[in-house]
Amino acid sequence: MKRPKITIIGAGNVGATAAHWALSRNLGDVVLLDVMAGIPQGKALDLLQAGPVDGFCWRVVGSNDYRDSVDSDVVIITAGLARKPGMSRDDLLAKNVEIVKSCAEQTARFSPNAVLIVVTNPIDAMVYTAYRISGFPRQRVLGMAGVLDSARYRTFLAAALGVAPRDVNAMVMGIHGDNMLPLVRLANVAGVPVSDLLDAETLAEIVRRTQHGGAEIVNHLKSGSAFYAPGLAAIEMAEAIINDGKRVLPCAVWLEGEFGISECFLGVPVVLGSAGVERIVEFSLTDEERAALGESEKIVRAQMQATGIG
Ligand code: 2OP
Repeated sequence: MKRPKITIIGAGNVGATAAHWALSRNLGDVVLLDVMAGIPQGKALDLLQAGPVDGFCWRVVGSNDYRDSVDSDVVIITAGLARKPGMSRDDLLAKNVEIVKSCAEQTARFSPNAVLIVVTNPIDAMVYTAYRISGFPRQRVLGMAGVLDSARYRTFLAAALGVAPRDVNAMVMGIHGDNMLPLVRLANVAGVPVSDLLDAETLAEIVRRTQHGGAEIVNHLKSGSAFYAPGLAAIEMAEAIINDGKRVLPCAVWLEGEFGISECFLGVPVVLGSAGVERIVEFSLTDEERAALGESEKIVRAQMQATGIG
């Protein structure tokens, strides 16, 4: 029986935190890869030593060598520069596209059957890069953004309503950027529409805060960006794949006509299982929602072009 194996490329805050969440959720063996000598080895050894206390019995390896990642079931790319205050995710594109290209090439070489989850920003352009360079089918190349953005959206709605965040169902679609689309119409608390519970002004402020959720944290931290929630969001996706969970999660996927959009990565709800994207959960949008998704599409297409990858 093959042990589940998750490789996380990039041992910075997001990658190391994702490794922590993977182990605490008992997902499988973890390989933490980085180009920096010592960093993945030190963090992996530290994580391994939490095993006797947490109870997990998985192998945790830190390495600078992709050979240690061979035959991974899930590969999560977090490597790249993070934003600083005043920077947009786009500002990272030129530098991070080269990093993600290398990660995708190595993943295709050592784990040709893996499902690839991309976290590096700007994520919609980076997952496009990984898709093109890896040559993997679209079912096995995903961008992590919607789970994070939806978690922020749910957090803010729960705070405004004074309810448990776990009881708030809400989804964000589109680009992982200021034009993302938190869906108000579908947001609910145990089935009760939030528009029956909160006034329009409060909802508009929650939508705005969600759209700028990443920048709010960058402005607090000054150096670096969020990592606890992004790390866990990536592991939520990995868990659905490792356990064949059939989870319905918003992920950046390559669209081929769904929602009327083709040949573009965008965040939409998908069914996630052992094969990766089992199907896209398509539903009818209002004219306003479709227009907003079209704004996302326009920006992502420009980002994809800026990668210089045909
Ligand atoms: C965020 O939204 C880092 O893009 C990530 O926090």
